[in-house]
Amino acid sequence: MFSKKILIAAATFTALIATGCAVSNGSISEESLGLRKTNLYTEDNVVPDQTSYSKAAPGESKPVNRAFENAPPMIPHDVEGMLPITRDNNSCLGCHSPEVAKAVGALPVPKSHLFDMRTQTVLATVSNARFNCSQCHAPQSNLKPLVKNEFQPEFRTKNGNKRSNLLDTLNEGVQ
Ligand code: HEC
Ligand code: HEC
Repeated sequence: MFSKKILIAAATFTALIATGCAVSNGSISEESLGLRKTNLYTEDNVVPDQTSYSKAAPGESKPVNRAFENAPPMIPHDVEGMLPITRDNNSCLGCHSPEVAKAVGALPVPKSHLFDMRTQTVLATVSNARFNCSQCHAPQSNLKPLVKNEFQPEFRTKNGNKRSNLLDTLNEGVQ
């Protein structure tokens, strides 16, 4: 039988080792581990950075340079009242369809959006596969990134950071 004293001593010793370990690791705190610099075991006090989308109306915004060759361009203008896109209401096409784009100073959808990839045929109207614009094109929020992006895109055409040509280059290298 252990005496009470020995048990208490043992418990204290264990506690000391435990805290000792914690202290020796103490230079790295839980809060410092994640990008969000807060306790990673709870979501209670986590507040995401506020998004800051462009309030500039279409026609008054400045296009964002493409992230890489043939990347889907980000939406630089306000999309208030335009989303979600529904079967009967796609205001994006009201400005970006080829017939109207020039008149409103917008870029028309590129050739790839007027093409059926399955049957390899040119379409008279925007392909249904491209109807839901916001599936690929997102508004750009103006935020300071937590981690700097070191990626350097390389464009093979002079204006590749402002225009796309996917349909012309899609089968490059395919025999
Ligand atoms: C009232 C006309 C109008 C509507 C509606 C509109 N746009 Fe635009 N969009 C423009 C204009 C004009 C520009 C060029 C930038 C500017 O002048 O603000 C533009 C720019 C863009 C660009 C950037 C193209 C580039 O050169 O990088 C994308 C992507 C885009 N719009 C997608 C959309 C999507 C998706 C919708 C629907 C949610 C939409 N637009 C609705 C007029 C419009
Ligand atoms: C499945 C993804 C997808 C959908 C859906 C889509 N796009 Fe795109 N979009 C792209 C990609 C990728 C590019 C760039 C490469 C290309 O296709 O030429 C692009 C390019 C564009 C461009 C730039 C054209 C240029 O000459 O540089 C405009 C404008 C545009 N899209 C508008 C729209 C609109 C408006 C819709 C909805 C009717 C739409 N897109 C739907 C993926 C998509």
